[in-house]
Amino acid sequence: MKKILAFLTLGLLAMAPALVQSAANEAPPEGSIERGRYVARASNCVACHSYDKGPYSGGTPFGIAYSPNISSDKDSGIGWFSFETFEKAIRQGVASKGYSLSAMMPASYAVMTDADIRDLYEYFMHGVPAVKNSVKTTGEKRSFTGPRSVRPFALQAGESPTVARGRYLVEGLGHCGFCHTPRDAKGLEKAQWAEQGKDFLSGGGNYAGWIGINLRGDNPDGLARRSREDLAEFFLTGRNKATAAFGKMIDIIENSTQYLTTEDAGAMAAFLKSLPAADPSKKPFTADESVSKQLWKGVENGAGSALYVDSCAACHKTDGSGYARFFPELRGNPVLMSEDPVSLIHIVLMGQTLPGLKAAPTSMTMPPFGWRLNDQQIAEVVSFIRSSWGNKAPAVSEEAVRALRKDKTLFPDPRIFGSSHVDMLLPKQY
Ligand code: HEC
Ligand code: HEC
Ligand code: HEC
Repeated sequence: MKKILAFLTLGLLAMAPALVQSAANEAPPEGSIERGRYVARASNCVACHSYDKGPYSGGTPFGIAYSPNISSDKDSGIGWFSFETFEKAIRQGVASKGYSLSAMMPASYAVMTDADIRDLYEYFMHGVPAVKNSVKTTGEKRSFTGPRSVRPFALQAGESPTVARGRYLVEGLGHCGFCHTPRDAKGLEKAQWAEQGKDFLSGGGNYAGWIGINLRGDNPDGLARRSREDLAEFFLTGRNKATAAFGKMIDIIENSTQYLTTEDAGAMAAFLKSLPAADPSKKPFTADESVSKQLWKGVENGAGSALYVDSCAACHKTDGSGYARFFPELRGNPVLMSEDPVSLIHIVLMGQTLPGLKAAPTSMTMPPFGWRLNDQQIAEVVSFIRSSWGNKAPAVSEEAVRALRKDKTLFPDPRIFGSSHVDMLLPKQY
């Protein structure tokens, strides 16, 4: 088994760049509907504006607001919008009825360039099919927002054009801070832009049972150990030699980043690698081989390690190194080091499938263990992976596992676009 896997892994390693290359996405010319579709994908409009009637037909509940129908239907959609009405909604956050949109409609679109917003408008008017769907509205009272001001995009002093392009995509269109930046008491992101300081992308809270990890240069829970190449490959294929996307990040890759050009994926990676650590005093990960040596010799130290050998080591290996692009590395992996372990309990309980993507057609599945292991066992095995091979993160309690099992977010509303069951319900024609 190990030999076959190792062989497959080597084969894939050799093939991976070719795959990415051959499936490379073209950059559509400016001033075209195709270019508008590209901007819509980079901005992931589909994620929030699709519910039970197909792409862009709106109706996703967000607290007090429902996302409107933004298909080209002239009546229930936005087909009647002038360019000015559209621009005001997207860049200035002013609804067609004149009130300020809530912060669920990303304020970061304020940086969108004139060329991009024009193409986006053409795409929504002429490239998106009309879907009749009158969405519930909840009146005009909106919490946490005010009129936003357009923020013309400009190169910053000393910034390379590649990093600037990456910043435009990450801060602006991609609204990555939505999940990766901590929020204040009012629920607003503590920093909307990189220049606002080290809170930006320093790790978000629990969103639907998943943690958007720290994307700055931090050790050991940030991206210190990821190279530019690792990150670009992750955006295009959902995987790289060390990790694979799971939880909410799957939706982002599936709906959005897999469609980016190689240059744009690389630019986002370059920008992320330019962000200094929020806390430079944290120690880097250093490998500790004592656990692997014990496991090799058959010496198990505590219930967690015995469970790991039985249930996990076949794929993630006794030394936690996994098999590149098949089974993620657990050793030194930043997702294991985040303070809140909710993502890890979640993936062990429910398992996870990263679907096949354009440039990486094979899916990857981690089996669920919630039916086989009890709360105490899950706590033990997760505590084990958080404290082995050099990983240093606090232990997980049985109570935390029990709480998550009862949490409704473990069973996401299948009508919300991008949740794991939705592929079966909706045609992917956006
Ligand atoms: C994170 C979720 C999210 C994303 C991403 C998002 N929207 Fe929205 N959008 C909303 C919500 C929620 C509202 C309604 C807000 C309110 O009523 O306060 C909204 C409102 C709007 C409106 C206002 C409609 C009107 O009648 O004034 C338009 C137009 C719109 N979005 C278009 C887009 C486009 C185009 C994109 C991609 C560039 C996009 N949205 C991305 C959540 C989102
Ligand atoms: C809806 C929430 C959400 C949004 C929006 C989001 N992410 Fe994530 N992201 C996550 C979660 C959850 C994880 C942890 C699971 C994983 O590693 O796949 C993650 C992990 C990551 C990782 C870690 C990969 C590694 O090497 O371990 C990177 C890089 C990343 N996101 C980049 C981005 C970028 C860039 C954007 C914007 C285009 C973005 N994310 C938007 C939820 C989100
Ligand atoms: C059959 C192979 C297999 C087994 C057995 C398995 N996993 Fe996984 N694991 C995977 C795959 C594949 C992924 C990537 C899933 C995805 O990205 O959707 C993964 C992802 C993970 C991740 C997220 C890491 C990352 O960076 O993506 C963690 C944590 C994890 N597994 C822990 C465990 C634990 C703990 C066990 C035992 C209780 C276990 N796994 C058993 C295949 C396996």
